Amino acid sequence: MENKTLAKDAWGSRLGLILAMAGNAVGLGNFLRFPVQAVQNGGGAFIIPYLVCFLILGIPLLFIEWSSGRFGGKFGNHSTPFILDTMGKGRLWKYVGVFGIFTNIAVVAYYTYIESWSLSYVLHTILGTFEGMSQTQVAQFFDDYISIGSSTTGIPFEPIVFYVLVLILNVYILSKGLGGIEKAAKIGMPLLIMFGIILAIKALTLGESGKSIQFPDASAWDGLNFLWTPQYDSLLNPKVWLAAAGQIFFTLSVGMGTIQCYASYLKANDDVALNSISAGFMNEFVEVVLGSSIVIPIAAGFLGLDWVLENAGFGMAFQTMPFLFQQWGPVIAAFSGIFWFGLLFFAGITSSLAMGTPWMGFMKDEFGWGMKRGAWSFGLLALIMGLPTVLFYHHGYFDEYDYWAGTVSLVIFALLESILFSWVFGINKGWQEITDGADIQVPVIYKFIIKYITPLLLLLVFIGALVTPHGNDWMANINNLLSGHSWELDDSSIIKKLSLYEYKNQLMEAKTQLDREVIEDKIFYSNFARIQLVSLFLFIVLLVYYANTRRTKLFTK
Ligand code: TRP
Ligand code: TRP
Repeated sequence: MENKTLAKDAWGSRLGLILAMAGNAVGLGNFLRFPVQAVQNGGGAFIIPYLVCFLILGIPLLFIEWSSGRFGGKFGNHSTPFILDTMGKGRLWKYVGVFGIFTNIAVVAYYTYIESWSLSYVLHTILGTFEGMSQTQVAQFFDDYISIGSSTTGIPFEPIVFYVLVLILNVYILSKGLGGIEKAAKIGMPLLIMFGIILAIKALTLGESGKSIQFPDASAWDGLNFLWTPQYDSLLNPKVWLAAAGQIFFTLSVGMGTIQCYASYLKANDDVALNSISAGFMNEFVEVVLGSSIVIPIAAGFLGLDWVLENAGFGMAFQTMPFLFQQWGPVIAAFSGIFWFGLLFFAGITSSLAMGTPWMGFMKDEFGWGMKRGAWSFGLLALIMGLPTVLFYHHGYFDEYDYWAGTVSLVIFALLESILFSWVFGINKGWQEITDGADIQVPVIYKFIIKYITPLLLLLVFIGALVTPHGNDWMANINNLLSGHSWELDDSSIIKKLSLYEYKNQLMEAKTQLDREVIEDKIFYSNFARIQLVSLFLFIVLLVYYANTRRTKLFTK
């Protein structure tokens, strides 16, 4: 019985594995987060640090996580707590591994909410909701939607309905095991790439045809030039490096525990070197080529680059694209809308499915839970964590989750696992794991990079985020420090964020009672969100503790 279920827990084919891994990586981050990050960090100024981070952070972490996962799988471990435990003798490593389950459940909670917007927007495109709407009306539609106000479809509480629907769909596919994930990736990935290419071609051929009386200077080329004209001075700006590293983490899904989980279902002699590189490059193609060729050039083409620079954010995908598509006439608008939101939906679901697997793997390894039970309990956890982000979206709930679980946690976990891999497990054993069964010759320089450069860079990234100086001005603050003044933290530093400093500052400056109430409300909900995140973390710590005592009992019997 045990063996039969175990035998089923393996990837069906190499193509299925690569598509599933690429599906895990290719997500909303590629189409929504990347363009926004690039624009906010100076366009061409962002690209070089970004590509360097891919080479010296991204690829090494892919190697580390794929090989750690395959290694853990040999001992029947499919989630990071006990994968890390088999690699390091210290007792604490399994608790470091808690991050690899925690992050996924916290992120899936808000991630599936964006996923559900895309699904609902596909429906609204088909129903023609956006036809004839002005830009303001399209933007207003989004605001009404997330305020859970009235909807044009007449479905009561539409955002909640779609959110729960998307969760159930995820749970259903997950309950079919790896086979379900492979199938979703085999359908979703090719469609996504096809939709992406069609939209990119449309955007790249837009040129200056989107000019209007209101925006006489609009040109899609401006958007592309902004992104693709390298600016070397940014190489000295730590803020850009932090953002670039953060984006590399988020987009490749490293520092999250999902890659280890997927890789733990490899066979002992399966290649990890070529597979990891293939999935990684596929993600980069989708991100750098497709991710930068849709939203930015289309928005710049119709609204001008200045507008884009001012309005970069989620808004572009949901608050303006449906309007911009209308400028191509109703038929192309409908197709574009279905392609764009369909693309987002497929990108989203192949990632959110991945987020379910560490929890399911853990519950199965430790407590013998089957696929169905694992999937439904995951859905329930996601709902408990996620419903507040849906209901209190406007109160900063979402941002709190995204910052702590979707950004800070990844860096902490990646830093610790890279130390474990090179310095505790040992780089020689680690290198053996990476090159065993490899279908390519891995450049030896990576042994050096993995041992020294990656952990060091991760440490710098973490410290940089922890104590970001005022105004992000490192030079000035270092000079200050040298001349005997104290270090002034920026509101965006982790330390200041921890104390909700930004809000507290705003509170002191608030002029009216209403302003004060809005900010107090944000503080209240941020604390609420944090309590939820901490509780989730502790809950998983307890499970790991309990699982461990069960293991030692079995062992001594
Ligand atoms: N890489 C995905 C994206 O670009 C996000 C993602 C996938 C993720 N798996 C994850 C985020 C696990 C957190 C945890 O959108
Ligand atoms: N917060 C960013 C914005 O407002 C984008 C972003 C952050 C994002 N985390 C994300 C996009 C997760 C998609 C998925 O635009």
